[in-house]
Amino acid sequence: MLSSTPDTDLIYVIEDDSTTATITRILLEKALTNSRVQLYGNGQQALDHLTAARQHSTASMPSLILLDLNMPLMDGWEFLDACNHLTVGEPVCIMVLTSSINPEDRARAAGYQNVAGFFSKPLDARTIERILRLRRSASGPTQRTAAGTEATLHHLMYQSRATAPMGDAELTQLLTQSRAFNAAHNLTGILLYSQGNIIQLLEGPETGVRTVFTRIVRDARHTGIIKLADGPVGQRLFAQWTMGFRTATPTDFATFLGYINPEHTERLSLNDPDLQDLLVTFATA
Ligand SMILES: Cc1cc2nc3c(=O)[nH]c(=O)nc-3n(C[C@H](O)[C@H](O)[C@H](O)COP(=O)(O)O)c2cc1C
Repeated sequence: MLSSTPDTDLIYVIEDDSTTATITRILLEKALTNSRVQLYGNGQQALDHLTAARQHSTASMPSLILLDLNMPLMDGWEFLDACNHLTVGEPVCIMVLTSSINPEDRARAAGYQNVAGFFSKPLDARTIERILRLRRSASGPTQRTAAGTEATLHHLMYQSRATAPMGDAELTQLLTQSRAFNAAHNLTGILLYSQGNIIQLLEGPETGVRTVFTRIVRDARHTGIIKLADGPVGQRLFAQWTMGFRTATPTDFATFLGYINPEHTERLSLNDPDLQDLLVTFATA
């Protein structure tokens, strides 16, 4: 993994096609007025700059890297492997940007801890917005170990049904109670509510996630709890939310649940950038 504190305005675009690289730069600069976009034609060039930036604390580390997969000299996969060997520290958010539509590439990318998203070319303003939203949600203040890394992260997502409809007062009380406990245990996540239907994502150190889930399961305010995901995860999706909250329309809720069909839970993984993107878009729209 990469190290040093990232500069929020600095973005690397690693792309061998100069037209695509230029368009990406223009779109990024339009979306983020203060951004400084640096273009690299292959993974090796970018890696050299990252290594130098890490060695000289005066140089800035990027807060976002947009990475093409097929490139000469050092392709995207080799770049990701090389990043894994750099010293551990504040992780840099990498989004894969590729013309590949191969689901195996998607799954492979999801296996890298630094990869927070997987997007298809050609890039447009809407995709840039999704990328930036995903970066914002993925990079929040989280507790780090003495070595500067976050302990192994775990996520758990479930759906349930409120035993009685929850109004504003009940939900506010629930969230206040949740946020205090979650902050103390370095847990983050999101609670989605729609006319008695609940989906909650919890993320953080595994022991904390399991402790809070045990308490949540016992809670008489809801019932019919079905676990949708439970496993290790590369990085937090809602790092800045001790418990984000959103009420959703029944249609939105049904769409979301349709994607994460509980009958296929063994295939559900929040390491899947598509699902991450869907969840963040849904939660922050
Ligand atoms: C839908 C739902 C979500 C909840 N989420 C959390 C949470 O994220 N964190 C938390 O501490 N408590 C959460 N709670 C509250 C816990 O279930 C429990 O009431 C609280 O942790 C106090 O537990 P105790 O009564 O065993 O001390 C949630 C409850 C419900 C019904």
